[in-house]
Amino acid sequence: MNDEDHGDAEADHAAAEDDHGGDSHATPHIENIDFSFDGPFGAYDVNQLQRGLQIYTEVCAACHGLEYVAMRTLADESGPNMPEEQVIEYAKGYDVYDAELDDTRPGTPVDHFPGSNLPNAPDLSLMAKKRAAFHGPYGLGINQFLKGIGGPEYITALLTGYTGEEKEQAGTVLYENTVFPGGWIAMAPPLSDELVEFADGHANDVQHLSEDVSAFLMWTAEPKLGARKQAGFTGVVLLGLLSVLLYLTNKKLWAPVKNRRKGD
Ligand code: HEC
Repeated sequence: MNDEDHGDAEADHAAAEDDHGGDSHATPHIENIDFSFDGPFGAYDVNQLQRGLQIYTEVCAACHGLEYVAMRTLADESGPNMPEEQVIEYAKGYDVYDAELDDTRPGTPVDHFPGSNLPNAPDLSLMAKKRAAFHGPYGLGINQFLKGIGGPEYITALLTGYTGEEKEQAGTVLYENTVFPGGWIAMAPPLSDELVEFADGHANDVQHLSEDVSAFLMWTAEPKLGARKQAGFTGVVLLGLLSVLLYLTNKKLWAPVKNRRKGD
């Protein structure tokens, strides 16, 4: 069923981005995942965001930056909800460049995460919104309403989509990946089972690690998702109330006229 819903759009995406290798490959199939933040009433799962942050920090940060994300937002209640003290400690872990000192110093919560370490590794701040796996049907946005735009699903599928094949092209090693447009990506498989250990012993196979880090990247891309959904819902309720009141007012205003006709 998923295939029919977004197959065409995926092909478009693949065509638009097919500047990586040129090798054609089958249209990737991206499975929907029931993330806690999908749907009209979805919200982030604090524990999942904290696990995702840990995975990003221990694995992805070696290459990828999050330069549009301020570290103080890690304390947001609707986000990872980390205690202030912990955020201060966390920020110290990064060396940031200070223009006033013309030198690097340990980070503080007001600083942003650093940019990418590796020049060809893209910044991940907005990646979950840049890659949309689900569209339609017929542009009505129903899929997005119920399942989200599929950005975190794309990232999960990418991280679990390696076939194990490698090849060298113009001095770069490329890894076969069934989801990446072109079929070959310059990122070595970053995750493996049990690569990251969680304090609470949460499952840490590649699938779980991929989902957790994808959820975290959805949060970095859209930290106010909960507030947006709530405002939308309040708006719908108020408009509904307004409709009822207008209907009743209308009825009342016309009642004398209608009654007169009946009497005639
Ligand atoms: C050793 C360095 C390295 C590590 C570690 C790494 N990446 Fe990457 N990543 C890259 C490079 C290089 C690219 C660009 C690949 C290309 O364009 O062929 C990339 C690309 C990506 C993309 C973009 C794919 C696209 O559609 O354009 C995503 C998403 C991504 N990485 C996520 C992650 C996540 C999540 C982690 C941590 C679990 C991670 N990466 C760890 C090097 C790395």
